[in-house]
Amino acid sequence: MNHNGSKEKFSSTLAVFFATLGSALGLGNIWKFPYVTGENGGAAFIIVYLLFILLMGIPVMLGEFFIGRHTNCNAIGAFNKLKNGRHFKFIGWLGFITAFFILFFYSAVGGWVLSYFFKALKGDFASLGSLPVEEATTLASSIFNETMGHSFYPMMWQFIMIAIVAIILMAGIKKGIEKVTKTLMPVLLVLILICVIRALSLPKAMEGINFLLYPDFSKLTTDSIVNAMGLAFFKLSLALGVMITYSSYFSKDTNLVGTSFKVAFSDVLISMLAGLAIFPVVFQFGLAPSEGPGLLFQSIPLAFASLPFGNVLLSVFFLLTGIAATTAMISLLEVPVSILSQEFHLNRKSSVIICSAIVITVGVITVHPESIFGGTTIFGLSFFDFFDYVTAKLIMPFCGILISIFIGYFVPRKDFINEITNEGTLLKNNTLSPIICFSLKFIAPILISLILITSLGLI
Ligand code: PHE
Repeated sequence: MNHNGSKEKFSSTLAVFFATLGSALGLGNIWKFPYVTGENGGAAFIIVYLLFILLMGIPVMLGEFFIGRHTNCNAIGAFNKLKNGRHFKFIGWLGFITAFFILFFYSAVGGWVLSYFFKALKGDFASLGSLPVEEATTLASSIFNETMGHSFYPMMWQFIMIAIVAIILMAGIKKGIEKVTKTLMPVLLVLILICVIRALSLPKAMEGINFLLYPDFSKLTTDSIVNAMGLAFFKLSLALGVMITYSSYFSKDTNLVGTSFKVAFSDVLISMLAGLAIFPVVFQFGLAPSEGPGLLFQSIPLAFASLPFGNVLLSVFFLLTGIAATTAMISLLEVPVSILSQEFHLNRKSSVIICSAIVITVGVITVHPESIFGGTTIFGLSFFDFFDYVTAKLIMPFCGILISIFIGYFVPRKDFINEITNEGTLLKNNTLSPIICFSLKFIAPILISLILITSLGLI
């Protein structure tokens, strides 16, 4: 086995920030976070979520940054290089598999987003705006069913989406991941701001804002807490090797603590902006808030199309969603790609081809729309819900516990602190490092275990 690790690095702090944020931003910000927030008590839920980020998200992210940058290696090779790491190497393997699991359904949705972007550009949703709500709703569903009911088109779009990501990854770290995320992240921000401004200028904007932000502590249930944890893992792309892989491309002077805070908070902010872009419009047209594919492919076209220049706005919206999905997929595919190229001596191009071929064969063939909206089920869940549940609510928290335990108990504390403070040059006389270590030792593993056990119904 080859443990030479990665030679290419991101070229600046900004590149590190945009690439890492690119991984965090994704469909989760658009169809999940805003809705889950609205349903679970608005600002009250955000407080819980932020607590999770501070107590668990940022420490686990820093644990991964330590593993990746210290060893300069992919998610599996990294554990070989660390003291006591060999026993934890299976975390890397779990990450390898989970990245594929997520890619199977994520790429399908990415494909539909792409197809909806072109539909919006062509003006296919224009007629929705002029019909009475009921007829428009039927039409919106029939556009969706027509596009997705056909097995060829969704497969073709999914294929295109995977091909785009593969081409970017073939170009490498600097010319591929860095260049693309550095260009696309600012574009995404501008596009989302356009949508927010339009949405907030609607007469019923307040209803949407209330849904998203009004603090209602009575809505905080055990379920909300489980949701907040799953969301924190999924949103911050934690515990499946993405952050280990990316941080192996960080240079020795990257500020790890600063990056983790900046990425986590920018991600929450973008989710809030997405909510402000979506819910005022949804409420304006008397639609019920929802999440997932129903929100993205039915309610949103329906609501946005009713606005003047609705098609333009819809194109902007699907473009920004497509960008978010692409940069998240780049980071997901990079996990197995870096493993194949570093551990199995394959060149980058062949690794990208093999990994995308796996996503295409398994993902494109299994994740049909009917399996997402019903049809084939595993343990009573559609394929889509199954992959979503198994990854965000089981494997990611489980690996999160293992990473915290590994860093908290098996890695020499001095090595960890030296790495996150850049050999003591950052955070001088800091109180933060002991807090992070305490969290990795006690808070994160206990908290995640308790929630995992509760969500499995074991207590
Ligand atoms: N963070 C991404 C999102 O919110 C999804 C993702 C999960 C990306 C895990 C990479 C790894 O959509």
